[in-house]
Amino acid sequence: MFRSIVHNCSFLLRRSSAASLHSQILIRGSSIRFISDSKQTQTASAGNTTTSSAKNSDTSNNRIGNIPIDLLYTMNDPKPVRHEILESTKPLTTNDLENWDIDINRHREPVGWSDKIAFVTVKLLRKPTDWFFKKKYIHRAVMLETVAAVPGMVAGTVRHLRSLRKLKHDGGWIDHLLHEAENERMHLMTWMAISRPNLWERALIAVVQGVFYNCFFALYLASPKTAHRMVGYLEEEAIVSYTSFLNEIDNGHIENTNKIPDLAIDYWNLDRNTATLRDVVLAVRADEATHRDTNHHFADRLLFRQEDLRKDAKQVFKESGLSNKKHKMAGLSHAATEKWKE
Ligand SMILES: [Fe+2]
Ligand SMILES: [Fe+2]
Repeated sequence: MFRSIVHNCSFLLRRSSAASLHSQILIRGSSIRFISDSKQTQTASAGNTTTSSAKNSDTSNNRIGNIPIDLLYTMNDPKPVRHEILESTKPLTTNDLENWDIDINRHREPVGWSDKIAFVTVKLLRKPTDWFFKKKYIHRAVMLETVAAVPGMVAGTVRHLRSLRKLKHDGGWIDHLLHEAENERMHLMTWMAISRPNLWERALIAVVQGVFYNCFFALYLASPKTAHRMVGYLEEEAIVSYTSFLNEIDNGHIENTNKIPDLAIDYWNLDRNTATLRDVVLAVRADEATHRDTNHHFADRLLFRQEDLRKDAKQVFKESGLSNKKHKMAGLSHAATEKWKE
């Protein structure tokens, strides 16, 4: 990450050299120092030792070139959602991906009218999708992901605003919801690198987004429990679709190409030498299983009025013997809990 920032900084500084006075960027140990002709200096934290001469057009305002330096430090690589990938120390092979416990047949039986509405709505939405895309699975995946990336962002936004409005902690949902939206967008970016939707599909995507975003937003305001249950069922259907996609690869109807975009290899930590389209589909399907389980869990928490994840998560961490570092990562340190105690 740091190396890529330094690389980007050097690139930007080279580009701005013609328009600036003599400046120098010195990166020493834990600081980056900008030195201009007027002897102005500024520092920012960093990690490596590199030296490069360059000219900076505006060092007096925390900028490199015309980009605020803090923006460069927050351009993080997107993180995967599954713990197997986050914890992997070596590139993942097909065998690894096939052996993850994702239970592709897991189904949450609808209980009550709210669940039944969510279930029937998803089943009805599937019909026109099947009719339109038939066996064009990559094109179908593009459409699916443009829709799937909406709920996490809507739910995260609504809960963020509610936290601000009610002056209360959210209970630990927002980060995951936004992360889910990012994960779905990474699915979309991956499929877009493999396939290009035609004009009709692009038009359909625009219309569907306009309708789906507003409908889901209204549903989330009216009944977040139904909304999360609906996403849980949408994810169950996504798993069915990606399983059919895998079957088409396995029976030779879709070529199992090894031309996999770097974006996908880096994101899921796939083995660059052996990764194929099948591995990507396995990884995406595993992500959908995470979304299925988390959204059904969120709906259950709303059903039982136990929205606050922090107390239960703290107990789980305690019982499982996970380290203090994990507590801190989840915002579950003693101080954090005390601070937000109602
Ligand atoms: Fe997805
Ligand atoms: Fe999903």
